[in-house]
Amino acid sequence: MCQADRRGIRSLGPASAFALVIASAQIFSTAAHATPGPFDRQQAEAGHVIYNDHCAECHGPELAGALGASLIDPAFKARWGGRPVSDLRDWIYSNMPPNAPGTLPDAQLDPILAWVLMKNGVAPGPTPLSKANAGAVFPKE
Ligand code: HEC
Repeated sequence: MCQADRRGIRSLGPASAFALVIASAQIFSTAAHATPGPFDRQQAEAGHVIYNDHCAECHGPELAGALGASLIDPAFKARWGGRPVSDLRDWIYSNMPPNAPGTLPDAQLDPILAWVLMKNGVAPGPTPLSKANAGAVFPKE
């Protein structure tokens, strides 16, 4: 069994070795955000759907911006990174969507924000985002 495994590894060509290098580079780059964010994956995925309904028409399906600003570019990260997530949460609540500011219920706001954080490369953690834990810092790259 061990013998067979070793033979298997030796038979990997240069292309596979290259793929391994790429895979480790990806693991390394996500390690920059090793500290999980104040949201969980299930919440972020629910937020994806809500984002598509309420935000994507102006901010684009990939959050890269359209009529509205990009929510993933360096300017966005420079503005909101290193600050408590609650700053961004409060700003969105008070300003978005532009035709109905101050109307997004927490049940929509928190999942949307979780999705925005995940799309910014922040790793999901064990606890869903809410007013209670939104004081956690949005990690800066
Ligand atoms: C009708 C178009 C429209 C919709 C819908 C909309 N936005 Fe915006 N959004 C804008 C525009 C335009 C700006 C830039 C103006 C500003 O900063 O005040 C903006 C700015 C923002 C910013 C600030 C970006 C930055 O660089 O700081 C955030 C965050 C944001 N929107 C989130 C959302 C979220 C979340 C939703 C969905 C609930 C949403 N927006 C829905 C048009 C829209």
